[in-house]
Amino acid sequence: MGGVTSLLMLLCLFAGAMSPVKGEDPYFFFTWNVTYGTLSPAGVPQQVILINNEFPGPNINSTSNNNIVVNVFNNLDEPLLFHWAGVQQRKNSWEDGVAGTNCPIQPGTNYTYHFQVKDQIGSFFYYPSLGLQRAAGGFGGLRINSRLLIPVPYADPEDDYTVLAGDWFTKSHSTLRKLLDGGRSLGRPQAVLLNGQNAKGDGTDKPLFTMIPGKTYKYRICNVGLKNTINFRIQNHPMKLVEMEGSHTVQNTYNSLDVHLGQCFGVLVTANQEPKDYYMVASTRFTKSILTGKGIMRYTTGKAPPSPEIPEAPVGWAWSLNQFRSFRWNLTASAARPNPQGSYHYGQVNITRTVKFINSVSRDSGKLRYAINGVSHVDGETPIKLAEYFGVPEKVFKYDIISDNPSQDVGKNVVLQPNVIRFKHRTFIEIIFENPEKSVQSYHLNGYAFFAVAIEPGTWTPEKRKNYNLLDAVSRHTMPVFPKSWAAILLSFDNVGVWNLRSELAENRYLGQQLYISVLTPERSLRDEYNIPEYALLCGVVKGLPKPEPYH
Ligand SMILES: *[C@@H]1O[C@H](CO)[C@@H](O)[C@H](O)[C@H]1NC(C)=O
Ligand SMILES: *[C@@H]1O[C@H](CO)[C@@H](O)[C@H](O)[C@H]1NC(C)=O
Ligand SMILES: *[C@@H]1O[C@H](CO)[C@@H](O)[C@H](O)[C@H]1NC(C)=O
Ligand SMILES: *[C@@H]1O[C@H](CO)[C@@H](O)[C@H](O)[C@H]1NC(C)=O
Ligand SMILES: *[C@@H]1O[C@H](CO)[C@@H](O)[C@H](O)[C@H]1NC(C)=O
Repeated sequence: MGGVTSLLMLLCLFAGAMSPVKGEDPYFFFTWNVTYGTLSPAGVPQQVILINNEFPGPNINSTSNNNIVVNVFNNLDEPLLFHWAGVQQRKNSWEDGVAGTNCPIQPGTNYTYHFQVKDQIGSFFYYPSLGLQRAAGGFGGLRINSRLLIPVPYADPEDDYTVLAGDWFTKSHSTLRKLLDGGRSLGRPQAVLLNGQNAKGDGTDKPLFTMIPGKTYKYRICNVGLKNTINFRIQNHPMKLVEMEGSHTVQNTYNSLDVHLGQCFGVLVTANQEPKDYYMVASTRFTKSILTGKGIMRYTTGKAPPSPEIPEAPVGWAWSLNQFRSFRWNLTASAARPNPQGSYHYGQVNITRTVKFINSVSRDSGKLRYAINGVSHVDGETPIKLAEYFGVPEKVFKYDIISDNPSQDVGKNVVLQPNVIRFKHRTFIEIIFENPEKSVQSYHLNGYAFFAVAIEPGTWTPEKRKNYNLLDAVSRHTMPVFPKSWAAILLSFDNVGVWNLRSELAENRYLGQQLYISVLTPERSLRDEYNIPEYALLCGVVKGLPKPEPYH
């Protein structure tokens, strides 16, 4: 298995704190050189995307309210954007790094992201968001620690480890992209990797992590794959769940966790077993043939290799649904702010609007497309956010072309168009995801966390509201929807900007299963949204247009 970074020259990665201006939150600066490299993570040489010669990319370690500045040098041969999944970018969709908000960083140029991890804690990851580049790597962990003054509902772990697991294809991202552009499917992945590796089990594997006997460690586990839910487990070591996508959870113990695409969990693991090596295992779920990836967790005093016996994974999605229902918000724990998470009583807020999103797949004239409410989104040359800001939306897209309450057969006649839906600022919204397909969905919303109040088999009706968890549903950013099932989320649209809602299945997203949510205020006030950065890249129809009056 490729030496990953060891043989490659490490480039400067500067992550020191600059002395902050008094009263301002500290700044952390990163310089990223993004290049191609050749590695064999799944046994055969292939092109991968490296950040400062690392695969996966470096972890970003931060604390609530830190300012993060990342100067990205695009040394690929194609446009690049980084998306910071789960970072809410309060008032700041300017830095969200998706096709609908930002012009891409052109090859041979650099661009600097500036954002604040405001009022958030938790485990997240970043990745290149364009053109299926995530299939080649370029992703890395992004953690937001609690500020010192705010109590964390568990003892300080001995160390803090990030596990980026996911399915993996041995074809290059450009080959995979050609398949999709030709209307075909990605097909099946070839491997499951943990932090870019899969242990061979022949005695030559290096450990991914080491633990001192008796100590407790935090592991942050994210599914960075393209296609499959994974089940994650560690030989002989149960996991105590403490955090999920930015929320402290009730601390249940699990032998294994289903991690859907785009999700992250924070768990505590205690080194209380016979000191030797143990496998961490990630295997694909809901697939006919199961792919398994392994990584080694080593005790510092360990002398023996891991047992070849891999703990069994659960079967079927009912198990996964039950596990979803066991997740609870810890109402008394404080997250990024001193007040307890549960002091926001989301279950008592009146719903102002209900929107149902039905996903569908179509093969018109043999070409594969995916849609939401009958619209298969296409990205244009001009980002939605910029067209809106410069006052020329009509040149790029039409608002509100889908219905809030589509008919069940809305997927029959799919149109290809930019899909942009407006929500009034500060309204409290109920979104129902209906999945009539046989595959498991995973939806992600940028710019927000929402309350994941229910998932049930069948179709939704208003009477189902009585089954919602209106007390302690976890506030998170990614929602699975099981086959022929529905899921409901509640949230307040209090973050002005343009925000991507998408299927985390890479093929579905690439072929149109995504849309943009526009939350506007007429005031153009700095209270609601930051000004467009001076250095923002402009492209498409907004290039050369006069800049609108700044907000005040
Ligand atoms: C980035 O890496 C490439 C390949 O190693 C190198 O040629 C280039 O000089 C580097 N650029 C910067 C800005 O460090
Ligand atoms: C990460 O940041 C926290 C505080 O922000 C610090 O305590 C910790 O040492 C850092 N860890 C690493 C590995 O840099
Ligand atoms: C590009 O990088 C240089 C430093 O090498 C920096 O001064 C400049 O501001 C960067 N440009 C952009 C657009 O971020
Ligand atoms: C919830 O958080 C509180 C406050 O930090 C903590 O004392 C308690 O143990 C947590 N409860 C559970 C069930 O995890
Ligand atoms: C919610 O709606 C009910 C019935 O229309 C009304 O009585 C109640 O005051 C509303 N609650 C809030 C918090 O606005």
